[in-house]
Amino acid sequence: MSAEIFNKVNQVLEDIKTEAPKSLDELEQFRIKYLGSKNIIKPLMGEIRNIANEQKREFGQLINKVKQTAEQKFQELKASAESASENAAAQSLDWSAPAEPMPLGSRHPISIMMNRIIEIFGRIGFTVAEEREIEDDWHNFTAMNTPADHPARDMQDTFYVRGVENMLLRTHTSSVQARTMTTQKPPIRIIAPGRVYRNETISARSHCQFHQVEGLYIDEGVSFADMKQTLLYFAREMYGPQTEIRLRPSYFPFTEPSAEMDVYWGLKDETDYRITKGTGWLEILGCGMVDPQVLENCGIDPDKYSGFAFGMGIERQAMLKYRINDIRYLFENDVRLMQQFSSAI
Ligand code: DAH
Repeated sequence: MSAEIFNKVNQVLEDIKTEAPKSLDELEQFRIKYLGSKNIIKPLMGEIRNIANEQKREFGQLINKVKQTAEQKFQELKASAESASENAAAQSLDWSAPAEPMPLGSRHPISIMMNRIIEIFGRIGFTVAEEREIEDDWHNFTAMNTPADHPARDMQDTFYVRGVENMLLRTHTSSVQARTMTTQKPPIRIIAPGRVYRNETISARSHCQFHQVEGLYIDEGVSFADMKQTLLYFAREMYGPQTEIRLRPSYFPFTEPSAEMDVYWGLKDETDYRITKGTGWLEILGCGMVDPQVLENCGIDPDKYSGFAFGMGIERQAMLKYRINDIRYLFENDVRLMQQFSSAI
């Protein structure tokens, strides 16, 4: 009886040694057969009851050997299967394949417009002046000849900084004029791009934050004709060499005389009628000769120096150029919109 059982177990040991699983599936079969919860070694262990007492120890050792052999063989086979599959993966990699394309960003339409304006004025000697967005009352209003009871100072238009007297979010880039004139001596030729804030209801046409570019030119003998020629140059660089401009008399507290500049857009279709209100002309900027009072406020002798200034909004120009019909798109940073713009500058 004992010998028969010993034979059976020895046979299993031999089987384990000769097993040669050729796939992961076969390896799994091997595991289930010899190491699984219903493996074939377990019932053999129960046979110890039928073994003569003096052979029980030997039998136990044999069973252990069978179990260990199965376990060891399984671990070896598993390790070699794993390294084989890693090798196969490595061999299937094509190291010469082109890399995954990396999506490139694109510039925001506002930046494209501002950079273009800076570049156009840069060519005729204007340098960029950047200044703070949180400004004091004096630079934003008082120095710019805007008296304390002027409607532009009304709480409805201006965001004041809570708890700090006389501090506000600048309502226009004209504050940079005051900043520059109080710290530099003429000749001054600056262009000041930046963000401005007004307490306005947000709609498709207006926003509480937007961008302006300011220009300022102060020197001896600067005339209205200089201003007109400079702005004509700008308009033709920006909107094409045939562009016509017109200056309409206007009012700004900080310039005298003041004007608004229109460019001729045309009346080719219905959209042109709508955006030019049927005139064909489009208002682009405000401008004028710097009021002598402003020069004086900023410590520049108005008898010796004169100058011109201008200021333009960027959003409206960007919306015209890129045919964007809602200003809010420009502040949402939705990549689906932004991806449609690209520019080298
Ligand atoms: N600051 C004016 C505005 O926000 C624009 C402006 C008009 C700026 C005339 C100027 C200027 O420098 O001369 O509406």
